[in-house]
Amino acid sequence: MWRSDYHTIKMIAKITDSVTLVSLQDPTDEPFEGRYPVPEGVTYNVYIVKGAKTAVLDTMDAKVTEEWRKELTEALEGTVPDYLIVHHMEPDHASNILNFMEMYPKARIVTSAKALKMMEQFFNRDMSPCCDIVAEDSELDLGTRKLRFMEAPLVHWPEVIMSYDADEKLLFSADGFGRFGPYDPSFDWLSGARRYYFNIVGKFGSNVQKLLAKAKNLEISKICPLHGPVLDRDLEKYVGLYDTWSSYRPETDGVAVVYASFYGNTAKAAEYAAECLRSRGRPVKLVDLVHQDISYAVEAAYQYSGMIVAATTYEGGLNPVMEMFLREISAKKYQSRKVGVIENGSFGATAGKHMLALLGDMPVEVVGEKVTILSSMNDANKKQIEELCGLF
Ligand code: FEO
Repeated sequence: MWRSDYHTIKMIAKITDSVTLVSLQDPTDEPFEGRYPVPEGVTYNVYIVKGAKTAVLDTMDAKVTEEWRKELTEALEGTVPDYLIVHHMEPDHASNILNFMEMYPKARIVTSAKALKMMEQFFNRDMSPCCDIVAEDSELDLGTRKLRFMEAPLVHWPEVIMSYDADEKLLFSADGFGRFGPYDPSFDWLSGARRYYFNIVGKFGSNVQKLLAKAKNLEISKICPLHGPVLDRDLEKYVGLYDTWSSYRPETDGVAVVYASFYGNTAKAAEYAAECLRSRGRPVKLVDLVHQDISYAVEAAYQYSGMIVAATTYEGGLNPVMEMFLREISAKKYQSRKVGVIENGSFGATAGKHMLALLGDMPVEVVGEKVTILSSMNDANKKQIEELCGLF
């Protein structure tokens, strides 16, 4: 049931007879986490699990407090919850914990020990009297059903837990399998999920691998994340993508061409490289760092098996946005890819040297000679770019 009678898009839906989803779309144009543009929006999800006792799973961002309060109250249909399960303390899910406790003062908060510590940091008060601490394999008995907890440290914060309902085979996966974009399940999941994964969780591949190893032992019918749609089909495909992404294997055999141009000459070189690659039948993704957010370049870098970076020289160094991009992927453990370099400089070209130094800190294979353009691409440069593209 979709309604848009508020400035937020909201939904209350039955996931099963006894599990209800409340989903609200962020009503603002602000970047997610203060960093990532979300032109297609992003949702915050909470779940209500009813047994003899009732648990509410997580809260929402402060930006939707009033809508959250209203929709949660409506979805509870007069039931007073016994528990608030806090899977993750990042404020997009945890901002309304104190409001929840004001609304339902007898409820117990069920969470991890690390989350309790963070709660006290965020709220500057002793939260221990109202918290029950759970760890790996702890269970919460709701009378007619139980939720079992799994620790999921650094997916993508250290305190994260997930929970599993064995009766209905539901995995409540916190940020895992979440995505940018609307709730609408018909919206292409991949387009929002890949950028979400690599920018937010990408650094923590080994932790995701540990989680997937645990999840293998569970029979799962639905994955219920805190952002985006509940996944209730093709679960093998989604888990397979998470396995590929978290093991740093490329999803697509092809080349990301990421460039940062001042006046368009470096852009022409990047476009020429893309053309050469396409003429060889190679899938290509061009990303313009000046006009597109870095998060799209991070996504492309990981998706493809190779990358060509092209950038201008700036003040004896490197175009700052390219520097920022390379530092970002280095911090996110970019690895196991082929990379080629194109530099441009009207005097004292240094961009290539700086790009190679930054790439030198990453476990990647730099292929070919760096191509040096002096102001604008000439015929010799075209030939060098063609040769470089032949290496991918
Ligand atoms: Fe959706 Fe890590 O918070």
